[in-house]
Amino acid sequence: MKMAVIGPGAMGCLYAARLARAGMKVHLIDHKQARADRLEKTGITVESAGETFTEHPAMATHVPTGLDFIIVLTKAYSTAALRFPPETPVLTLQNGLGNVEILCSVVGSARLMVGATTEASTLLGEGHIRHVASGETTFGSWTSCPCENAQAALEKAGFNVQITNSPGQLVWEKTAINAGINPLTALLNAPNGRLLQQYEVRQLMRDLVVEATKVASTEGYRFTHSLVESAEAICARTAENISSMLQDIRAGRQTEIDAISGEILRRAQIASLPTPRTRVVYQLVRGLESR
Ligand code: PAF
Repeated sequence: MKMAVIGPGAMGCLYAARLARAGMKVHLIDHKQARADRLEKTGITVESAGETFTEHPAMATHVPTGLDFIIVLTKAYSTAALRFPPETPVLTLQNGLGNVEILCSVVGSARLMVGATTEASTLLGEGHIRHVASGETTFGSWTSCPCENAQAALEKAGFNVQITNSPGQLVWEKTAINAGINPLTALLNAPNGRLLQQYEVRQLMRDLVVEATKVASTEGYRFTHSLVESAEAICARTAENISSMLQDIRAGRQTEIDAISGEILRRAQIASLPTPRTRVVYQLVRGLESR
């Protein structure tokens, strides 16, 4: 099977390297030509429990034609700039809200699969990652896109894949959890596990998740389990992990705060729902970004 992974960040490198290792023809798409040239030579190195391996996915700056599917793992703020060949199915596993709406307008809802991943990966350097914790890759068809090829390829690459009939619910669930964890880890310069250690911080994380959950409910999403408990379980499972937002702050990069807390605020405003804590952490992360 042939596929492309767009975005050579911590997650893009993990998915591209694992798919290549399973013997599939993988293209890793990087819009920066110079970096793509360097990664073509060095390959992608993955450190994970007990082993380190290097794979050489084919590097490109544009997605080629003739693929079975494309996985989007860019930062949410890059989604609008992405270009896709006609007809190839697209799977987004990105963080945040708003990616689906943009991708639907570009490729059409019938070509779109939408999901989320709880794999935890840290970018140690260009093309060099540490796979911190295994998780699940859950996705489903947004309207009518068949999921079988992507499911088979990811399972062959060793990912734990679940198929959902409610991808919109899943995106909200992941975003509500990210809205609790990511800004606080960035603001406190702390790994995920530290959020559980101090009463006040833990309580603020809980409150942020509750605010996000209330906004989700204004869009018709109800959760059968507590997202606060899910967020705490993720902090415990990925205790040593540096969240993607803190990785961005430390590297001086733009964060995904707009697609996470910013989108929650925007949707809360439409529903006239107060989300005071989300507003404060949004403003503070914006302040951190501009230092
Ligand atoms: O964005 C991230 O880093 C991850 O989604 C999460 C769940 C916070 C774990 O580090």
